Amino acid sequence: MSRFKHHIFICINVRPPGHAKGCCSEKGSEKIAELFKEELYRRGFKGIIRANKAGCLDACEFGPSVVIYPEGVWYGNVRTPEDVMEIIERHIIGGEVVERLRIPDEKFRR
Ligand code: FES
Repeated sequence: MSRFKHHIFICINVRPPGHAKGCCSEKGSEKIAELFKEELYRRGFKGIIRANKAGCLDACEFGPSVVIYPEGVWYGNVRTPEDVMEIIERHIIGGEVVERLRIPDEKFRR
């Protein structure tokens, strides 16, 4: 049994400017991570749903990258407060994947 109902990881990895892979941090992911934490707390999910800052999730090209377990749903280009609110409202609360932000499995190189 999972400790948390949902566990959200938000990449805040930092790479030097000009790095070929870029990084989620330069796309504003620190702010996105804070928004997830604040909004989950505000909605009373402390201890039930956890948002953690993470290192590189190996989805750099899609960043800012977010993955939610136990579903294993990946989101990319999560850049705005509206994106965060939509993921919380539709995915976390509503149980529905936010397709417009989802990174399809086939996009990941094997
Ligand atoms: S730098 Fe964010 S997924 Fe790699």
